[in-house]
Amino acid sequence: MIKGFIFDLDGVIVDTAKYHYLAWKELANSINIDFTETENEQLKGVSRAESLQRILNWGNVELSETKFNRMMSDKNKIYIDYINKMDETDILPDVPRVLNFLKTHKQLIALGSASKNAKYILKKLDLFDEFHVIIDGASVTNPKPNPEVFLTAAEKLHVSPIDCFVFEDAEAGIEAANAAHMKTIGIGDPKILSKANKIFSDFTQIPNVYLKNLIYK
Ligand code: BG6
Ligand code: MG
Repeated sequence: MIKGFIFDLDGVIVDTAKYHYLAWKELANSINIDFTETENEQLKGVSRAESLQRILNWGNVELSETKFNRMMSDKNKIYIDYINKMDETDILPDVPRVLNFLKTHKQLIALGSASKNAKYILKKLDLFDEFHVIIDGASVTNPKPNPEVFLTAAEKLHVSPIDCFVFEDAEAGIEAANAAHMKTIGIGDPKILSKANKIFSDFTQIPNVYLKNLIYK
């Protein structure tokens, strides 16, 4: 049996979600907007532009297109400074074990991320070659919760969506994968990921026998 396994990047393979948060918070604070980690959940999985729009809405602030674009690029500069300090030691625990297990069992593996920095991050982590297909923020027009990113990944893997499993840490990502009619595995907090088919706190909680069942059942 050959199934498709699609991984989100930020917050699933690597803990970059905290860097997105810190970078946005610094920018938002500079225009007197503040937000909490709880509100930040609504920024996870969504595109850079949508994230900024949500932050501006919270502060009731409107920006000209020029200023909006400048803020997006300033945010990315702060974010990249964090990313540049990362290497393979930042890969989240047991992600390599899960990737290796799937590879050993000849499964197809894709990345399905909203990030335009995804390829750069995968190269920094030395994980780029682990993926048969990489769909990132530059590959699709409709960001999560639209299913396009996952449907494109399945199409490129030549696997039917119903034979795909998606690992996601964000509500928007779970919604996107559910809309693509894929099976969703939430990585993180069950309160946030309640729409997922199955939830684990992290990859250390996913035994090989569970993966084996996904492949052969
Ligand atoms: C997602 C993150 O993976 O990528 C979001 O969860 C982020 O927080 C989005 O906004 C876009 O990322 P980037 O790197 O293109 O700004
Ligand atoms: Mg994520």
